[in-house]
Amino acid sequence: MINEKMQDAFNKQVTAEFYSAHLYLSMAAYLESIDLPGFANWMRIQYQEEVSHAMKMFDYVVERDGRATITGFEDPQVEWKSALDIFEGAYSHEQKVTGLINNLMDIAITEKDHAANIFLQWFVNEQVEEEASAKGIIQQLKMLGDSKGGLFQMDRELGQRVFTPPASE
Ligand code: FEO
Repeated sequence: MINEKMQDAFNKQVTAEFYSAHLYLSMAAYLESIDLPGFANWMRIQYQEEVSHAMKMFDYVVERDGRATITGFEDPQVEWKSALDIFEGAYSHEQKVTGLINNLMDIAITEKDHAANIFLQWFVNEQVEEEASAKGIIQQLKMLGDSKGGLFQMDRELGQRVFTPPASE
């Protein structure tokens, strides 16, 4: 059975993952409003990924015979200046999430919860990918500069992204 301190930390992270989902859906809505449906698709997939992260943790608390609890969170940002502004926001958000995952791992270590430690390793690796993919898009956008043709091409590429559910443990 999971101890209360670890359980509460997981429950807080479930909320943080759902908040990330809402933030990315809000980003998708903005990108749709500036006629970048491919970029918006990328963010819609990101929304699905965050929901899957939240549910992976929720299921884990239940599996460890803990008590999953759901709480609310603040409204996400609604307006941005550009696609670049959005992805810079997403990158800095992911850096914050990495900090939260690292804190969870610290708790698993201090509580000597080896099972939680192993479970969290997936999230530690996932954060490396999450940061790298946002950073990669920022770099591409910066290279494009003011090229409308380049932006159109990139929008088509990001429109190809599909959701792949994370593998179960
Ligand atoms: Fe759930 Fe984007 O990290």
